Amino acid sequence: MQIYIDTASIEDIRAASDMGVLDGVTTNPSLVAKEGVDFHDRLKEICDVVPGPVSAEVVSTESDGMLEEAKPLLEIADNIVIKLPCTVDGLRACKHLSSNGVRVNMTLCFQPLQAMLAAKAGAFLISPFLGRLDDLGQDSMDLIQQIRTIYDNYGYETKVLAASVRHPMHLVECALVGADVATVPFKVIQQMMNHPLTDSGLKKFLDDWAAMNTPSSG
Ligand code: G3P
Repeated sequence: MQIYIDTASIEDIRAASDMGVLDGVTTNPSLVAKEGVDFHDRLKEICDVVPGPVSAEVVSTESDGMLEEAKPLLEIADNIVIKLPCTVDGLRACKHLSSNGVRVNMTLCFQPLQAMLAAKAGAFLISPFLGRLDDLGQDSMDLIQQIRTIYDNYGYETKVLAASVRHPMHLVECALVGADVATVPFKVIQQMMNHPLTDSGLKKFLDDWAAMNTPSSG
């Protein structure tokens, strides 16, 4: 499963990239607003660090505006992916962009038919949101499973990108049901490599080694 980082923080992106396992980046208007930086400048910085797909979201709600916004974003770097909402206007813009060789990430997906239409419109990525469904008491993993089955049934090449990931168990379940990608906050990327038995086991190994190599006072 590919791992993207879900942030606009350049420090977190650099730190995740240094771990050697980062495949791409997703941003959204809320994440960029939190950083208080110029959107285009930040995207350029991100693309200089990460060669994989970097999703940049439009804020227009009509397809013509989405296509206008996409133009300068696509000039930033070759690895920019245009992120559009799962609306009829988003679908129309997706079809236009993907027909012209532009990679599109269809975001805010909460039901499998949105994912089916996004695939038919040529989307590169579909982003079902896990945490926000869980917040409503719905089992988000059912959605990933349904999209996986539909895509496999019809050979759609759109990649399933699990978004709104809140904790490591989301990632375990996504990997088990066959999500292609998960986009993950930096905190959760760090948690992926943690286990208290690893820490205590390592401490015991190092303590035993040090004891063997410490000259006895007698
Ligand atoms: O990738 C979408 C993500 O940023 C939304 O996450 O935690 O705000 O639902 P969250």
